[in-house]
Amino acid sequence: MAYIVKQKVHGNDYYYLRKSIRKGGKVISKNLGYLGKDKKQAEIKAKQIIKQMESSKSEKSEKVSCPRKLIKENLSVEELAVFCKRKGFVYPSGEIYGGFSGFWDFGPLGVELKNNLKKSWWDFHVKQREDLVGIDGSIITHPQVWKASGHVDNFSDVLVVCKKCKKPNKIDKNELGKIKCPCGGGYDESSAKEFKLMFETNVGITGKSYLRPETAQLIFSNFKYVYENARMKFPFGIAQIGKAFRNEISPRDFLFRCREFEQMEIEYFIKKDQKCTYKIPNIEVLVYSSENQEENKNAEKMKIKQALEKGIIKKDWHAYWLATEFLWFKKLGANLNNFRIRQHKKDELAHYSSDCWDLEYKFPFGWKELQGIADRSDYDLSQHEKFSKKNLKVFDEELKEKFLPHVICEPSLGVERALLVFLFDAFYKDKDKENIVLSLDSQLAPIKAAVFPIVKKKEFEKIAKEIVEDLKQRWNVVYDKSGSIGRRYARNDEVGTLFCITIDEESLKRKEATIRDRDTAKQIRVKISNLKNILEKLISKKIEFEKAGKIIK
Ligand code: GAP
Repeated sequence: MAYIVKQKVHGNDYYYLRKSIRKGGKVISKNLGYLGKDKKQAEIKAKQIIKQMESSKSEKSEKVSCPRKLIKENLSVEELAVFCKRKGFVYPSGEIYGGFSGFWDFGPLGVELKNNLKKSWWDFHVKQREDLVGIDGSIITHPQVWKASGHVDNFSDVLVVCKKCKKPNKIDKNELGKIKCPCGGGYDESSAKEFKLMFETNVGITGKSYLRPETAQLIFSNFKYVYENARMKFPFGIAQIGKAFRNEISPRDFLFRCREFEQMEIEYFIKKDQKCTYKIPNIEVLVYSSENQEENKNAEKMKIKQALEKGIIKKDWHAYWLATEFLWFKKLGANLNNFRIRQHKKDELAHYSSDCWDLEYKFPFGWKELQGIADRSDYDLSQHEKFSKKNLKVFDEELKEKFLPHVICEPSLGVERALLVFLFDAFYKDKDKENIVLSLDSQLAPIKAAVFPIVKKKEFEKIAKEIVEDLKQRWNVVYDKSGSIGRRYARNDEVGTLFCITIDEESLKRKEATIRDRDTAKQIRVKISNLKNILEKLISKKIEFEKAGKIIK
């Protein structure tokens, strides 16, 4: 039982919180904290310390008797948007002025999550491969680039107005007369008009150009330089991550359809008809062939390699890139049961493309395109040759002739759509405590660790701060001392913090800290001197949590 004692020093009163404990037949008194000089304030502070100690005790005993049960939470896109704003992931842009449709700002956690996602994509697709290099092209470039690519003349949607809700909507050119507004109303066909999707901008005094609607064209316009500078050999790819802008008629579904977004794109070049040089990763998914779509049949589950063998996927490179993209999503914890691949039907294919597939995800608002993987042949390079009048051909050492490389696959993924997938798939609730647990993969989690002193005690706080300072050199780590330990755990679970590190009496005595795992709520004790090393192994999944320290039972 804790109690308050008053000590008089040089005529002044000083209050302390003490506890008597029996040790080896003797009763000794233990100091739990200094409470200040004022009696009333001391009573308030004492209550706070006792409450914190009790909640940390009950937290510990719960962990032992009740391992955490996580339950998948299915939430709507609107609920996700509310959560993202509340927690500082994503804010509606310009909201203090009423918002600006199709534009979003990333908050302190959102920017960390987005950067982690882009880094993971870059490491997997560029840094860890020998056949890919990257570029970072400009957002505004020579307008002829967009003339050559066909965007100036053809990059448009058909704008239609719904007869029932009167809202404007976008449809594809071949959908006129065939589809209805999401509200159920029919479109007024007489209202249909072409709507250009590129944002125009002024350059200097008289110049005009566009904000790029995709990053891909910068890869094509720089192709020959990159090929020569990086001394690439076929097959090889060029990758880019960057902003793209589209004046969407009806931005919707939170981050799904924005007017400003980011793309992660690859143009993968081969010599025409060059065979795939890689083994196709062993991935099983729902395959929705153009034939099944035309015959109103369902998608079928099969290995991607099987789909190639059956002739559904036409080219080995396509099978390879589709499976490779799944590997990336899988590696970062996405649930592949929510994915399918959909082949473009004949009337969706561009004239130069022999096959095109989309990776689709089952969003709460339906199956939607997550990533496009198109065969673009030599269309873009030949267009840029024609418009620039520059020779973009390269020399084939074997055949001793010049040729224009073909883009066999263009994996093109929106950062925001990928973020939605990882957020939806990570959303869980703790069955017993009812709090949200954002079970993001260790690479994606915006905060890798939160460090707490178990109670507000100077000695604990000093150690906790030193640990934070050290870990911050390597990861995004936070110091958190406000509220009960239970509240601090819940707050960190909700934003996906991987580990909570607690400093307590044992840290003073044995130089040890407690690490708590977000998804299981299990705890281990480790030496503080070894903490960074252990976290490194845990974050990179080189060691199982329970084997990383002494498990607390
Ligand atoms: N270079 C090929 C290209 O841009 P796309 O299908 O128009 O192809 C590729 O776009 C990807 O970019 C899409 O699969 C999607 O992930 C993302 N994307 C496209 N428009 C978007 C928008 N308005 N908002 C968010 N992401 C978008």
